Formats: sequence, structure tokens, C-alpha cells
Amino acid sequence: MCGIVGYTGKKQAQQFLLEGLAALEYRGYDSAGLEVLSPDGELHGVKCSGRVATLAERCKTANLVGTQGIAHTRWATHGAPTDRNAHPHLDCTGRIAIVHNGIIENFQEIRSYLRQHGHTIATDTDTEVIAHLIEDAWAGPAKGDLVAATRNALARLRGSWALAVECADAPGEIVVARQGSPVVVASTPDGAYAASDAMPLAGVTKHVISLEDGQLARLSADGSVQVYDADGLPNDHPMTLDIDFDASAATLGGYSDFMAKEISEQPEAIERLLKGRLTEHGIELDELSMTKEELASIDRVYLVACGTSYHVCLIARELIERWAKIQAVCEYASELNYKEPMITDHTLCVIVTQSGETADTLTAAKRMRAMGCKVFAITNVLGSTAARESDGTMYVQAGPEVCVASTKAYTAQIVAASLMTLRLAYANGSMDTGEIQRRYHDLEQLPDLIREVLSRRWQDKKVAKAFRKAHSALFLGRGVNSTTAYEGALKLKEISYLHAEAYPAGEMKHGPIALLEPGFPVVAIVPADHVHDKTVSNIQEVQARGAHCIAVATDGDVEVAQQCEDTLWIPPVPEEELVPVVAIVHLQMLARYVALERGCDVDKPRNLAKSVTVE
Ligand code: M6R
Repeated sequence: MCGIVGYTGKKQAQQFLLEGLAALEYRGYDSAGLEVLSPDGELHGVKCSGRVATLAERCKTANLVGTQGIAHTRWATHGAPTDRNAHPHLDCTGRIAIVHNGIIENFQEIRSYLRQHGHTIATDTDTEVIAHLIEDAWAGPAKGDLVAATRNALARLRGSWALAVECADAPGEIVVARQGSPVVVASTPDGAYAASDAMPLAGVTKHVISLEDGQLARLSADGSVQVYDADGLPNDHPMTLDIDFDASAATLGGYSDFMAKEISEQPEAIERLLKGRLTEHGIELDELSMTKEELASIDRVYLVACGTSYHVCLIARELIERWAKIQAVCEYASELNYKEPMITDHTLCVIVTQSGETADTLTAAKRMRAMGCKVFAITNVLGSTAARESDGTMYVQAGPEVCVASTKAYTAQIVAASLMTLRLAYANGSMDTGEIQRRYHDLEQLPDLIREVLSRRWQDKKVAKAFRKAHSALFLGRGVNSTTAYEGALKLKEISYLHAEAYPAGEMKHGPIALLEPGFPVVAIVPADHVHDKTVSNIQEVQARGAHCIAVATDGDVEVAQQCEDTLWIPPVPEEELVPVVAIVHLQMLARYVALERGCDVDKPRNLAKSVTVE
């Protein structure tokens, strides 16, 4: 949820710290701060509620000089997003500073202990206690060794953390630790760096070290990095990752916002993902890391995720049941964690997570693995925790997704799930090679179909005006496109703050129809598919109540166009199961235009964070 960065080296620290925070701001953006060790031997910092841009403005007058510092952008969990609660947090002496992403579960108990032992607690955060524990360890058993002092403090904590610590009495050194929240470090000739993910480091290196749970790292001003394992012993072979994107991939590149950029990148993302997947033996998917026999024996698939990625699972369920003839179960990760899943000896668990760091999804994966399931991850982030803690991983290669609302990762994940399904279908004999090839060629048409929808964005811009006076909206769809309705409604509410509900169209008359009144916007996804006529009947019910109906329909569907106030046109899609990948592009653009009409920040919607690393 929060983003952390750190630097110690030859260069002035402030510029990297601010740029690094800007690159991580998608992780949380309610307050920000930094602390730099100045040549006078003191820590000097600036912190404030609000965005990184506000912090950067304040830094102009603060004139922070120093070649070492740590910084943070926050998504508040404990304590309101105020200046006082913004990180970095200091110990009583003001000589130890810390930034943290995660949650300290036993902070209340530690706080009481610290107060009883003379410490003054200055904030409402769970994080601050860590600074005071390090202060005690530094003054006591670990004197002179920041790694030892940090380890000593961490031994008393329960919860999750990625943290960076600096101490005015240990100049040229930053200590970084990980337990449950991601952090990478990098060694370069100019200095050593730390960040919550590789995004801020893409401009300075091509390789990072990804810390594992329990590990700590000492970053030194000469640019070296020493990793230590949980037992305190040096680890000279830590996990390294190559950065798989260019620094420019995370810049706007001429677009007005990341959402616009990422929506438009969908065709290329899908092309990358499909490339080289079809062989004479079917679909190439070695990432599944299972033998043909194991694949053939799968008799149940558990699909587990949160938010938009859960919607991917709903579509994957349809694909798996229709194409591979395997029973599939979808679960919200946050729900599965408190249920008894009905697994068989041959159940495959598939987790879908763009970031690869969603805490609920990771917990679910761990649990399913402990129960004996093979876990396969579909994710966008190389080396993410999901990838490490699964038996196999498929990277969707959509490139960095910066906008909090997921768009290109959504469609790429559906295509990844389609490939996986084809692999399963081939393995268990539900499809022969010819059928696999035909389905694959259908998938190959998706990029051009999306390009066609993108060229029709003017339709969405026009329709967005219908939402000007709306206080709510209803999305309807049937079959696989009930999920398009769910995802369309989620996109609209996350970025425009307009209440939106989604239902399978046939369910409308069982309750939601009571919402309808003249002018009420109803978005009906009604492509040319086997449930088309049924959905048309639902549109008639909407019309009979005077609501404003916006259809997402297939080119040439005059019947639907005549019955609706507006129509968002999609070109014909070769398989009806693949319509969601094309139709959603209209709803992404519609949500964006509605949000812009309402003056919202489409990339950083209020209260949200891209990577939800707390349960
Ligand atoms: O990184 P993940 O795919 O695991 O994230 C899951 C959800 O938090 C995420 O999809 C969220 O719903 C997005 N804001 C959707 O746009």
C-alpha cells in the first residue's frame, strides 16, 4: 500500500527520493515525507499530508542537502493522513529515522511498553514503535551496528513490513528489511538504492535484488549491498531480477493520464502475450510446471483473486467449464481465507493478481498450497511474491500499470487464462489440435478488434454526458458478459465516485428494477450471442420505466439501437466467450470520460491504492 525509497551514495539524495516517490505514488498518496542526513551530521526532513507534488513544493524551500536519505508515500492504516502521521518516523533522539510499508499487529502492546520505559510517542501510527525499539537496541546490545539493532527490534514485532532505516550515527548506511511486504535493493557505481518495487530504479539499473521474507540488507555509500538471511548470516547469492521494462514505460509519453495510456496499450500487450504460444503440439505453457499426466488429471480448478482480477476469474471459470470441461470454482481471496475449500486430490488453484502482492490473494495461495494444491499464478509483475510462492507463474507482460484502476492487466489476464484453459483442454482431450489452433487464431484477432473499439472512443465521450446528473447507474449483462457488467460498474465507481451496481440482466426484475426512474442510466451489454434476445427483453423492461438505456452492441444490431438512447458499438467477435475482452474497452473509456466530466483524478482515485498489501 505505501511506497518506500532509500538512497546512499555520491549524489545528492533529494532528487532521487522525490522522483522515486512519484514513481511509487500509485501505491498510496495521502501523505508523503523524506528525511535526509545532512553534512552537519543531523537528519533533516519534510513531511506533509497530500501528494508527492506537495512534498516536492515544500522541499524547494527546505533546501535539504545530503547524499543519503529515505522517503515514503502513504496509504493510511493507523492514524489519519496528517502531517504528523506522515513517515519518516523518528526515535526520541531524532537520530534514527524509519519508513515502513505493512502493518505492525502488536504495536499497541509495544507502545505501552515503550511509554513505561520513558519513550515519547509522537504519532498515531503503528510504525513509530519500530524507531523506538531500534533506539533501545542501538543504545544497548547492538551499539554501533544498525543491522543488528534493526534485527533486534524486528524480533519483537508481529505483522508485515518492508522498511528502511537510517541513523545519523551510522552515516553512509541504510538498512532495509522485508517480512511480507515487497522491497528491492540495487547496487550501482553511484550508490545503493532501495524501493518498494523496481519502477523507481529502472532509470539507474537493469538488475535489482529482491529481498525475501526475513532478509535484511545493508546499503553502503560506496554502492555496495550486503544481504543477510533471517539467521543473521550474510547471503552472497540473493535473488536477483532483471528489470523487464524500460524507464519510459512508466512515463506518460504524451498521454494526459496513465489510464488513457494503459487503455490504448491493450492491443500490444495481448500481442506480446500470444506471441510464440502456438506450436504443433498445441499451446506452449511450460510455466504451468506440471507434467502432461498431472495436467490431464486436474478435475477441479479454484480461481482466487480480488477486485478486477476476481472478474478475470469469473470469465476464466466460464472458459474452463466450456472449453476444458473441468469444474471451476471462483472465490474472493478475502472470503476463501475463512472458508473450507472443497478440494480434491487433483485440484489446481489459480491465483490472479496484477501486482502479485495482494495480501489476501497471497494468504489464500499459501493456504491452498498447504492443503496440497498446486498453485499457478497469473501476474503482471516479475519476481512478485505471488510468483515466488507459486508452483508456476505466467507473466502477462502488460508492462507497468500505473493507474490505480486496472485496464490493460485485466484484458491481458483474461487472455492468459484463455491460453491456460486451452492447455488444460488439450491435456485432458477436451479439444484436439485443430480446435486449439482455431481458438488460438480467434485470440489473435483480439488486438485488432480492440484497436477498432479504441478508434470509436468518441462514442464513449458523447455517452459520458448522459451521466452528468446521475447519482447512480446500473450495468446489466448475461452469461460471460455479466462479468463485463461487474467490471464496467467497478471501473465507473472507482474513478468517478458514481454509485454503480451490476447484475446478471435476468436478475434485474428480482429487485434492482426498483431503482429505475426516468433518466436513470442503465448500461446493457448485449452482443450478438446466444442470450442476445433474452437481454433485449430486459432492455424493454428498462425502457418501459423511462430509464436511459446505453447498449454495448454488435455492429449492425439495428433492433437494439432503436430501443436504446445510446449505443456503444463493438465489431463482431469470433467467439462469444471472448466478447468481454473487446466490450470492456468501451466501458473503460466510458468510466474515464465520466470521471473527467466530474473533475476526478482518474489515475489516483480517493481512498484507493494499487497494491493492497494488507489483509
Ligand atoms: O494486484 P491485484 O490484481 O491482486 O489487485 C486486486 C485488486 O485490488 C485490484 O484489481 C483493484 O480492484 C483495482 N483497483 C481494480 O481496478
